[in-house]
Amino acid sequence: MVQFAKNVAGALRAITSETAQNCCLSGILWPMAKTTQTGSPRTAIAIMAAGKGTRLKSKLPKVLHEVGGKPLLAHVIAAASKVVPASDVYCIIGHEADRVREALAPTGAGFVLQKEQRGTGHALMVAREALAGYDQVLVLSGDAPLIQAQTIEKLRDFHAAKKAAMTLLTAVLEVPAAYGRIVRKGPKSDEVKAIIEFKALSKAQHKICEINAGFYAFDVPLLYDNIDKLSTNNAHGEYYLTDMAAIFGKMKKRVVAVQADDASEVLGGNTRAELVEIDQVIRLAKCKQLMNDGVTVFYPQSCVIDCDVEVGADTVIEPFVQLLGKTKVGSDTRIHSYSVIRNVEIGDGVTVLPGCVMDDSHVQNKATLGPYSRLRPGSNIGEGAKVGNFVETKKINLGKGSKVNHLTYVGDAEIGEKVNIGAGTITCNYDGVNKHKTIIEDGVFVGSDSTLVAPVKIGKGAYIAAATCVTEDVPSEALALGRARQINKEGWVRKKKTRQSELAKGAEPHH
Ligand code: UD1
Ligand code: CA
Repeated sequence: MVQFAKNVAGALRAITSETAQNCCLSGILWPMAKTTQTGSPRTAIAIMAAGKGTRLKSKLPKVLHEVGGKPLLAHVIAAASKVVPASDVYCIIGHEADRVREALAPTGAGFVLQKEQRGTGHALMVAREALAGYDQVLVLSGDAPLIQAQTIEKLRDFHAAKKAAMTLLTAVLEVPAAYGRIVRKGPKSDEVKAIIEFKALSKAQHKICEINAGFYAFDVPLLYDNIDKLSTNNAHGEYYLTDMAAIFGKMKKRVVAVQADDASEVLGGNTRAELVEIDQVIRLAKCKQLMNDGVTVFYPQSCVIDCDVEVGADTVIEPFVQLLGKTKVGSDTRIHSYSVIRNVEIGDGVTVLPGCVMDDSHVQNKATLGPYSRLRPGSNIGEGAKVGNFVETKKINLGKGSKVNHLTYVGDAEIGEKVNIGAGTITCNYDGVNKHKTIIEDGVFVGSDSTLVAPVKIGKGAYIAAATCVTEDVPSEALALGRARQINKEGWVRKKKTRQSELAKGAEPHH
């Protein structure tokens, strides 16, 4: 992960929740971070994340919608946790709060409940108690996941340098869309006269391209001494946090604005279309980062690679591949097209042929999979092993150099080394109530179309004749043969045909 973070350039660095977790678990980083807080102002970060996200028309709360393979809010918390310890990060949650809390608990951030969502100003009103002990608060939007730690720091430092009551982060957008607009005191002034919400824009103000990004720094005592002056007298009938600018302005307190270096960092996702755009930005950046690290990603626009995925150098990812969740791929591996791989650890020199679907599994070095293999959770494919087309595996250990090449189901099985499992073999692991285990020791040969009725054990080096139904343990080096003996009825076909033609002529059939 460290490697990962180091190598990504610019604004679109993907931030991982893992990074946040590592920091919070280290026990060394936190005390150090705390000491840097003494002397300098005590800083909290509040992330506004209570909104329903009406424009998404979803049962899922907005901040749990995923981009780059993880929730919007997880990205923001990860960036925030690089600036202050996670214990000083407070997420203001409301809509489906329990669900949000549960999903983000591993980040170590705190939560404040905003039961009713009465606007961004109201979100900060309910955080009054949580923030009481701090000197300043940096306010982020839970729906703007591209924000980077450096930009949050820039906001914090500008706020301190200008000794402001309120500092806002702005961006200049070619298409300022529905964002609130910034009116500065003068064209070159740092100071802000007003923030005008989209619905309140005059015709002339529509042309303003500097927008309010929805990120702020506040002096905490000043904020809470004055926040009750906010009113709901506006188009949405909400308490707007943006109105604090005018309130401080009247008090002759300083309100300043600082521009983000990269406008794309502040993009918020309010609609499905915007979320998809953000997702694409993150994934393309991820592919570029992988390529910087020595991975070939052909046709990156067609690949879906989550931001926490790791891939080693000289691995090739063909078009239309999905690498999801906590997937880790080693070096010199090739993932052919149309494979969907989630939470799988894949070693070095592995070949994944087209169309494999794999979840929560391990694939050791030099194994070959596919085309069209299905690895269900708990499949551990040994070194140099082969799993071929239309083979389904679940909860198995497949030993080094073993082969399951065609049209087979193996579940709940321990399979040793150098085992050959013929086409059409099935482990009957389920009796309708319980799952049972199949044990196949080293060097076993299972003939095609065998059914292995678990629990059953096949001893080392044994042979199973094709089409055997194995219901009893097979001793080592034995041949198990469990199928009906074949009978050949000589001349049977000719007799049958004669009978049929007699019938067709209307004759009485012979018996
Ligand atoms: C807000 C700003 C707008 C700015 C834009 C940038 C206000 C009034 N307007 O508008 O100037 O250009 O962000 O993205 O602030 N939230 C709560 N509790 C609430 C309401 C909202 O936690 O009661 C959260 C939302 O979940 C969201 C964030 O605050 O994460 C912003 O709210 P949203 O409704 O998206 O504000 P915008 O209309 O985008
Ligand atoms: Ca928004």
